[in-house]
Amino acid sequence: MPRYLLTAALPYANGPVHIGHLAGCYLPADVYHRYLRAKGEDVILICGTDEHGVAITLQARKEGVHPRDLVDRNHAIIRDALKGIGVEFTHFSRTSGAAHHREATAFFEVLHRGGFLREEVTRQFYDNAAQQFLADRYIVGTCPHCAFDGAYGDQCEKCGTSLSPDELLQPRSVLSGTEPVIRETNNWFLPMDELLQHPTFVEYTQRIQGWKSNVRGQFMSWVQQGLQPRSMTRDLDWGVPVPLQGAEGKVLYVWFDAPIGYISATREYFESQGEPDRWEDYWKNPDTRLIHFIGKDNIVFHTLIFPMMLAAHGSYVLPWQVPANEFLNLEGRKISTSRGWAVWLHEYLQEMSGREDELRYTLLANLPETKDADFSWQDFQLRVNSELVAILGNFINRVVVLTHKLNEGRCGPLVAMEVPKVGSAEQILHDALALTRSEILEAMEQFRLREALAGVIHLSRLGNRYLAETEPWKLLKTDPEAALGVLRTGAEVAAELCIALEPFLPHAAKRLSAQLNWVPSEEQRLAWWQGLAKSVYLQTGHPLAPPTLLFTPIEDATIQERLAKLQAMESNSTESQASSQPGSSSPSTAETGKVQPTQEPSMVAFEDFATMDLRLVEILDAKPVAGADKLLEIRVDLGSEQRTVVSGIAQHFAPDELKGCQVLMLTNLAPRKIRGVESRGMLLLAQNSDGKLILVGPQGPGTAPGDQVR
Ligand code: 2FM
Ligand code: ZN
Repeated sequence: MPRYLLTAALPYANGPVHIGHLAGCYLPADVYHRYLRAKGEDVILICGTDEHGVAITLQARKEGVHPRDLVDRNHAIIRDALKGIGVEFTHFSRTSGAAHHREATAFFEVLHRGGFLREEVTRQFYDNAAQQFLADRYIVGTCPHCAFDGAYGDQCEKCGTSLSPDELLQPRSVLSGTEPVIRETNNWFLPMDELLQHPTFVEYTQRIQGWKSNVRGQFMSWVQQGLQPRSMTRDLDWGVPVPLQGAEGKVLYVWFDAPIGYISATREYFESQGEPDRWEDYWKNPDTRLIHFIGKDNIVFHTLIFPMMLAAHGSYVLPWQVPANEFLNLEGRKISTSRGWAVWLHEYLQEMSGREDELRYTLLANLPETKDADFSWQDFQLRVNSELVAILGNFINRVVVLTHKLNEGRCGPLVAMEVPKVGSAEQILHDALALTRSEILEAMEQFRLREALAGVIHLSRLGNRYLAETEPWKLLKTDPEAALGVLRTGAEVAAELCIALEPFLPHAAKRLSAQLNWVPSEEQRLAWWQGLAKSVYLQTGHPLAPPTLLFTPIEDATIQERLAKLQAMESNSTESQASSQPGSSSPSTAETGKVQPTQEPSMVAFEDFATMDLRLVEILDAKPVAGADKLLEIRVDLGSEQRTVVSGIAQHFAPDELKGCQVLMLTNLAPRKIRGVESRGMLLLAQNSDGKLILVGPQGPGTAPGDQVR
């Protein structure tokens, strides 16, 4: 029987976690952990805070505190917030602890002895005044692409271009403000190019064929680009010291030590349980299934670098699966902690206390499993009110209220479900439940958690349908016995839901359990999640608790408050950014969290914008497209040529109305065939608050078709 070792990306302790982190990996890891546990598998879930690296030192510097104080504070905030939302780790550790330092040191030594870490001399920026080598983020200067005078050595936050520090014009050190000099330094490199051929690594790559395509795609593209040796040490004073002679003032690269945190935390856990050797079952036994839950920007580290380190080390298993998620956006824009565009988990828990599962649900129902997804407060309200309240909660409530009305809250005899009559409502329900159950289990096995959760909600939808069909509230008057039978069947579905909901919405599952006055037994849980026989859950005469609401609706005012808070956070952060523009020695915009990206979505690199050819055109004539009531086929004059574009504006303009109008057009949009007509360009229109479209065109006279937008 396999044993499962699940890990969730160690969150950086440079700040708290937000909903992007939750959707990226913590909720999926928690759901999967609970699922395997419910199924009776041998499973542990390991995590902890990632407390080293430049992310931490820069943030500490910004706050004017020692890195130790920063990580202590954030470790506690992160640990408590994840616990508050119901993420249950087997162990939650931290990388600045002595046990982790020992583990990472020993790991490095094994690789070094094995000849897998090569010393090389490189040239790097050095701050003479501060007497320190400078990580890329410690250097600011003028961006060579957009001339923004506050670009970092690794990226310009204005235009989004990735940079290396030597590309910056007028570079200066964040520490002293002086111009850095180039100095030679020695560091230790992991020969990734060679490790690609390591037999253990090669064997591991066979598994990747069965992985999610977003993960496989990134893996392949890194390999195809050609891998270079990568430095595993840094000139920095915060981290695990490099355990070699002549390496004073150097520490292990944070991405070298952090994943080793999975190992040290496992070991720490079993030591705390008085079983000091048991960690080896999980890390050394080939039956282990090591699964890393991560966000997309961690893919390279978990599919290439860490597996290579593990292969080189030789004693440990390599990942079995890496079901990485894509990014979660917020209100249509990328989450950006530096710009204050985020929903912080610890704040949500305080401000929306008691609504843990509403957030879990909204995020899980919309996980970025295959592509980026979006969280919006309106969608949150909609999902809670129309799914949790109106479908799930409503079903439970109907069953409980009616059972109280009819039978003082006591379950009736289970007749109908045991031997459902062919073609009866019970038979239909019975079959639909069986199908949905198997769909849920299959989706879980393939890490399609969104789909599995949709299946669970569907169980309650089936329950609702059954009630709507059998109408026990009518039967109540005419045939109370039959009504009682229907309600008993409903109560069985409610009990089943209690089991099925647990991995996803554990708080609600608890409330439901209290409502039913019943706790599923270990065997019932196992059987359900193993897809085995359907058991009878509630005994005849079993008393339900008095009715309470499983979920309550979210009011409009609550959503307005949430949105107002988001806006306020953003404007506060913009203010603080303004004071740290060029020349500032404390870059408040330093974005270091890796689970989420650093850029705003609306930020388009200038080079990208420059690729768009926008021109003024004159509409020559327009006609409807046959069989499509929204489309117009429009002929336009570009000055030098005429073109046809197909535009979805038929419901806003009569064809004749358009003739002679001047409008902006994106002329180099890749041609597309729409309803058999080749469209070569896109007309630009503005949509006002009533949803009406208006042509975007010149404001004054003197323009002609073909004029370019500047
Ligand atoms: O991206 C991040 O937040 C990193 N701290 C994740 C580290 S995962 C691991 F390897 F430890
Ligand atoms: Zn720039």
